Amino acid sequence: MLVLGVETSCDDTAAAVLVDGRRVAANVVSSQDEIHSPYGGVVPELASRQHVRNILPIIDGALSQAGASLNDLDGIAVTRGPGLVGSLLVGLSVVKGISYRWRIPYVGVNHLEAHLLAIFLDREVSFPYLSLLASGGHTLLYLVRDFGDYRYLGGTRDDAAGEAYDKVAKMMGLGYPGGRAIDQLAKNGNPRAFSFPRSRLKKGSFDFSFSGLKTAVWHFLKERDKSAWEAEKADIAASFQEAVVDMLVATTLRAVAELDVKRIVLAGGVAANSRLRQKMTESARAEGAEVHFPPPSLCTDNGAMIALAGYHALKRGMKDDLRLNADADLTL
Ligand code: KG4
Ligand code: ZN
Repeated sequence: MLVLGVETSCDDTAAAVLVDGRRVAANVVSSQDEIHSPYGGVVPELASRQHVRNILPIIDGALSQAGASLNDLDGIAVTRGPGLVGSLLVGLSVVKGISYRWRIPYVGVNHLEAHLLAIFLDREVSFPYLSLLASGGHTLLYLVRDFGDYRYLGGTRDDAAGEAYDKVAKMMGLGYPGGRAIDQLAKNGNPRAFSFPRSRLKKGSFDFSFSGLKTAVWHFLKERDKSAWEAEKADIAASFQEAVVDMLVATTLRAVAELDVKRIVLAGGVAANSRLRQKMTESARAEGAEVHFPPPSLCTDNGAMIALAGYHALKRGMKDDLRLNADADLTL
């Protein structure tokens, strides 16, 4: 079964071709980082305009890389939310047009569900597992019991983890998005050089909070002479990163203990972070739990995870018609 996956929920235009819900025959992503970088964040209007320019060449590119044509497709999956509504509408409208013209069934996919399942593109994992989804827009903890069966455990009360990375990177003049830059810089820094705060939420909660940490770094930079922090950049990056990672790991491991689920899966752009991968693995091992993370290209937004979620939905007999609308605030 050949499924095309199309993703345009934020600032990446992506398309992929998936064979039998397993093999990624093509996975093409066009990033808009250069366009949004001068603004230090995604500008919604610029994002949708760029999706309009990119979407057809990206879909063509994915099909030709897979050696397939539209006629070969058994189904199409497209992100219907959550995300920026203008961006979502580009992918959804194009997919509706293709589906109607070529009579190919299509299904709208929840972007969050796609991240939670992305690990299956890399390896088989048994249910149930705890999924920590940390990206630029979300920081969520779910118990995944089966395909289509997800229990929300907690989420961020303010900034997403990736958003905190991006904002601190902006304060430090590291460009946008800044997660990867901080990850690289931190490799040469001392994570204990500065003590930044870790938010502790009420007992029993699996929520997260990163805005206190972000503000602490802002005050730290403001009060220090710029020439001093230029020299200490790597230590600042490492100390900030350690605080983010500590919070993500502590809450996830609390869920491991309280729910007695000994399997953790990381997802979302921040799951590409080298320190998070290392610390989660070490800490989980101490609790007798296993950790799985997809390769970085499947952590960040991509069409393959949309095709995968769509494949399972189509197999369950789901199919959408032309009335489906984009939903910027879609929940799981
Ligand atoms: O999942 P994603 O591609 O898009 C959203 O749905 O948001 O995640 C992008 C986010 C950005 O905030 C970016 O800075 C962060 O993931 N990110 C990282 C790393 N690579 C990407 N954060 C920390 N370390 C990384 N290596
Ligand atoms: Zn995402």
